[in-house]
Amino acid sequence: MVSRSAALLLAILSSPLAAEVRDLKAFFQERCAICHGPDGSGRGPNGIRLGGRNLLEPRWLAKQEEADLVTSILKGRGAMPGFRRQIDAAEARQLLADVTHAHGSKKRP
Ligand code: HEC
Repeated sequence: MVSRSAALLLAILSSPLAAEVRDLKAFFQERCAICHGPDGSGRGPNGIRLGGRNLLEPRWLAKQEEADLVTSILKGRGAMPGFRRQIDAAEARQLLADVTHAHGSKKRP
């Protein structure tokens, strides 16, 4: 009985995680899409360049280390502000994975 309720507790505790991942997608749309576009390509709905780098460019992406990109997101880089007050390293990694569809690995999409 005790272990069943423990399992239930675990299920309840782990569910906010899924909500967090969904929130990160909303976070990207709120905080990143203004420069990187809703899809990360750096372009807006009309194909207009928004100023942020194209995060989907495979040749660029293949040369990047995930840790460096996470650092850029947290600390900022060039015209990009840092986001370390809003998100932590794990969340920055997840944001990257979501936008590049790499799902946390360094592999290209
Ligand atoms: C004000 C516009 C702006 C916003 C907002 C912005 N970026 Fe950027 N981002 C840029 C620019 C410009 C660059 C290119 C920086 C450079 O290399 O000089 C960049 C580069 C990057 C890079 C590549 C970093 C590297 O090391 O080469 C990543 C990854 C990235 N942005 C992710 C994000 C994420 C995730 C968010 C939202 C949390 C975000 N950006 C929000 C403008 C922006």
